[in-house]
Amino acid sequence: MIILKHVNRIYGKGEGAVEALKDVNLVIEDGKFTCVLGKSGSGKSTLMNIIGAIDTPTSGQVFSHGMELNALSENQLADYRNKTTGFVFQSFYLEPSYTVLENVAMPLTIAGMKRAEREAKAKEILKRLGLEEKINKRANELSGGQKQRVSIARALVHDPEIILADEPTGNLDSQNGAEVMALLKEIVKMGKSVVLVTHNMEDAKNAENIIHIKDGVVSADYMEKYDVEKMGI
Ligand SMILES: Nc1ncnc2c1ncn2[C@@H]1O[C@H](COP(=O)(O)OP(=O)(O)OP(=O)(O)O)[C@@H](O)[C@H]1O
Ligand SMILES: [Mg+2]
Repeated sequence: MIILKHVNRIYGKGEGAVEALKDVNLVIEDGKFTCVLGKSGSGKSTLMNIIGAIDTPTSGQVFSHGMELNALSENQLADYRNKTTGFVFQSFYLEPSYTVLENVAMPLTIAGMKRAEREAKAKEILKRLGLEEKINKRANELSGGQKQRVSIARALVHDPEIILADEPTGNLDSQNGAEVMALLKEIVKMGKSVVLVTHNMEDAKNAENIIHIKDGVVSADYMEKYDVEKMGI
């Protein structure tokens, strides 16, 4: 479970400062499909980056697994990210000249794993996602839908607990978009938490929990069962 308590995120200083998140109190439930739904500029990506510990709040606290993330050192935080989170983005960020296998195995290089083991793990997840036949293709030879499925495989290869996907269907046609949504639902069935960021109401309907965000302010009906003030450490 990830808990955000009185989280504010302000970009810049003085007159040009932007309050992207305003006093956000939130729980991301384990093993659930949660959606962050809001218009462009509402603060969705800012919120996702803080939930995924790739950005820190200007003020407020983030708790995960009984730890306060602000209290971790850079090394501890990197370790936390390696174990806990996998990211998927609208524009895939695959290495175009690398093969599918190399792209998917890449996060394990950072984790210091040997090549044979990296490739075995990458193959296993590619197989599970029905991408076995594409293993030796270069990323730039794939369709958009295939690229996104490969980037989902890459996000899963180190077996994280939570997948964070920022507008993963944004560059896809409706059929490929639907396939990506189906895949995210499968990932929830594997026992992982999925946080989907979108402005698309149809995509949001796939989620079990919806967080609405408008001008940096969140509301979520499912939060009624939590008293965030009493949570954390
Ligand atoms: N690095 C930054 N520096 C300054 N302002 C920023 C920065 N990143 C985001 N903002 C501002 O913060 C607000 C929220 O931005 P954010 O990217 O979180 O919105 P979003 O909901 O993800 O939008 P989109 O749907 O267009 O991706 C916007 O007003 C944006 O201009
Ligand atoms: Mg965004």
